[in-house]
Amino acid sequence: MELDKLVHDARAAFAAVAQPAALENEKARFLGKTGSVTELLKQLAKLSPEERRTQGARINSAKEAIEALLAERRAQLAEAELNARLAQESIDVTLPGRSRPAGGVHPVTRTWMRVEEIFRSIGFEVADGPEIESDWFNFTALNNPENHPARSMQDTFYVDARDAAGKLLMLRTHTSPMQVRYARTHQPPIKVIAPGRTYRVDSDATHSPMFHQVEGLWIDEGVSFADLKGVYTDFLRRFFESDDLQVRFRPSFFPFTEPSAEIDMMFTSGPNKGKWLEVSGAGQVHPTVVRNFGLDPERYTGFAFGSGMDRLTMLRYGVDDLRLFFEGDLRFLRQFN
Ligand code: PHE
Repeated sequence: MELDKLVHDARAAFAAVAQPAALENEKARFLGKTGSVTELLKQLAKLSPEERRTQGARINSAKEAIEALLAERRAQLAEAELNARLAQESIDVTLPGRSRPAGGVHPVTRTWMRVEEIFRSIGFEVADGPEIESDWFNFTALNNPENHPARSMQDTFYVDARDAAGKLLMLRTHTSPMQVRYARTHQPPIKVIAPGRTYRVDSDATHSPMFHQVEGLWIDEGVSFADLKGVYTDFLRRFFESDDLQVRFRPSFFPFTEPSAEIDMMFTSGPNKGKWLEVSGAGQVHPTVVRNFGLDPERYTGFAFGSGMDRLTMLRYGVDDLRLFFEGDLRFLRQFN
């Protein structure tokens, strides 16, 4: 009776624990040195040999029963623990993958890359220079006399810092200072383009306070306006992937070129057919500027141009509001990728 109750109690006690460590504590209560079963075995010494044999056998079978219950519960707890871990660490292979959407190239960057590729293919280097510029590089070296009204057409943003001459630094209003920077550090033949960001106090559908230009400069002995016409016309035909366009050079004024021209183009087919569109300023580099390059204008001549890359992008893709390029609206930008 007493032994049956012991086995029964052990079963209940083992079933009540949920942790392996707690189960080992329960084991000690029954089978440990001072456990109930051990206590019973100790008392066998007081019995007669006859009783000791039968009682001993009964206690032993109870002990074995408790050990079997213990082993069974251990196995159950181990399996429960394993199942819990498997459930926690499982991966649902049927879930859809998490993809990282691919970014795209901005349309103006696309133009920038195409411009570099086309000019590199005809032997132009590509140069890069500072967007924060000094008065000397941005205006004076380019033959803009101090206080000349041409400067007011290019109002810009000033930086709260001064150059060596004590003048406020500014955000460059065009890429033309790169003509001077590059020519002063290289020897003729000088054949370079300088694409980059430029700034003016201007904002409407076709002007943004930050915009992109690409400067071109070719200086050597005997480089003429005819070379400008050839190079630029070829560039436009390749850029627009079309021979169906006409190019005209319309007289204009820039302090740093003489003669100066605006370059206009006209598609002879397609939706923009028949409209002259301005794409660039250009001209033969003024002798004073060649001198500021550190070169002799009697020996070296050549041309420069400065084109709006945003404008080229608008024409290529038929976009009529420049501001769309800089608003970061993905619905617009996705169309180019
Ligand atoms: N820098 C002029 C502008 O921004 C363009 C230009 C460049 C004109 C080179 C002539 C030669 O308007």
